[in-house]
Amino acid sequence: MNTAYDAVVIGAGAAGLFAAMRAGQRGRRVLLLDHAEAAGKKILISGGGRCNFTNTGCVPERFLSANPHFARSALARYTQHDFIALVRRHGIPFHEKTLGQLFCDGSARAIVAMLLAECAAAGVEIRLDCRVTDIVRNTGYRIETSRGVFTAPALVLATGGLSIPKMGATGFAHDVARRFGLPLTALRPGLVPLTFAGEALELMRPLAGVALDAMARCGRVAFEEAMLFTHRGLSGPAILQASSYWREGEALTLDLLPHRDASAWLLEGKRARPRAEGRTLLAEALPQRLAQALAALHLPGRLADTRDADLRALGTLLKSWRLEPAGTEGYAKAEVTLGGVDTRALSQQTMEARAVPGLFVVGEAVDVTGWLGGYNFQWAWSSGWAAGEAL
Ligand code: FDA
Repeated sequence: MNTAYDAVVIGAGAAGLFAAMRAGQRGRRVLLLDHAEAAGKKILISGGGRCNFTNTGCVPERFLSANPHFARSALARYTQHDFIALVRRHGIPFHEKTLGQLFCDGSARAIVAMLLAECAAAGVEIRLDCRVTDIVRNTGYRIETSRGVFTAPALVLATGGLSIPKMGATGFAHDVARRFGLPLTALRPGLVPLTFAGEALELMRPLAGVALDAMARCGRVAFEEAMLFTHRGLSGPAILQASSYWREGEALTLDLLPHRDASAWLLEGKRARPRAEGRTLLAEALPQRLAQALAALHLPGRLADTRDADLRALGTLLKSWRLEPAGTEGYAKAEVTLGGVDTRALSQQTMEARAVPGLFVVGEAVDVTGWLGGYNFQWAWSSGWAAGEAL
């Protein structure tokens, strides 16, 4: 068996499959390894099983990184439109759900099947259930695994981040990068539910399951989407988005009525229907259970019995409810890992380590994290493509 390749890619997830595919299309002899028994497992569970594979509004500003400009080059060279064209060529039906988010009409399995078909057509060899035991670098790379020893002048780290360890996520890429002297930025869970304690949690816990559209603000960013009360705090797209920007000790501000002047609405309600109960009025704009909980605290009894100043105070609370999260639900529930291999150590054109020729890092292992909504897969495709073009 010939065990010498032009490139070995470790990690058969979104970015690894794409890097291997592109290098194979360019005539390179590529080996793609994964310790899991199947390729693309995260793709299969993504988007509730329908894979939100890209976003029509993908722009570099919707990615977080210590170097916000790093992602530009790769995103411009392989765009969301390129990926959409590939999906169309494979006849996979899809639709826009909301905010430019594209999902398969059927199952995410179609995306994995497409990537495997492209890799097969490009002659990529895939070895699954394959554990890497050591990597030695001399003139090239020698990769020792549970299924043999392989050599190549180029090695691609595509093993993703730390989120969902239950599914086999590891810090492998981070560890190997460190071993080769590449710096890492701080790692933390992103796109993750937030937890609360004390009075805030006492209010939230009985509301578990209640969802509404709200604006979640954290520092200078704000996201208007659905939010959800949970047994431990808050989740839903608006909260997940804000969580990537939140840091311990900072506040989160919620606008529960983003399209209303809440104080004016409450005062008008009192004027027009003074005998109405506070909870009845609140339930006209908020989910019933939330309306009841807020009324019990801030608007008991009839509107006529509540002072205008108290109505204004409630209006202010509804528009800017300031909360201090206690923490996050961690990697077990996070969709992504914020941080990763420091982009200053990588070429933005090729993803190759500047100081370690032949070593490439792609996908979530790099310190580039997208918003919720297909951005993280687009980064995986774009960064994988950039490396594949250079292998
Ligand atoms: P990815 O994690 O996909 O792949 C890494 C591969 O490396 C895996 O196959 C793994 O088995 C392998 N590996 C790990 N350690 C290894 C080791 N030590 N040795 C060998 N192999 C190893 N994004 C999006 O844009 N739209 C969406 O709909 C969703 N939905 C979503 C749902 C859920 C529940 C999660 C957890 C995440 C998402 N995401 C998402 C995020 C998206 O899944 C993620 O950003 C990409 O999968 C990252 O692609 P990578 O290829 O970098 O890593």
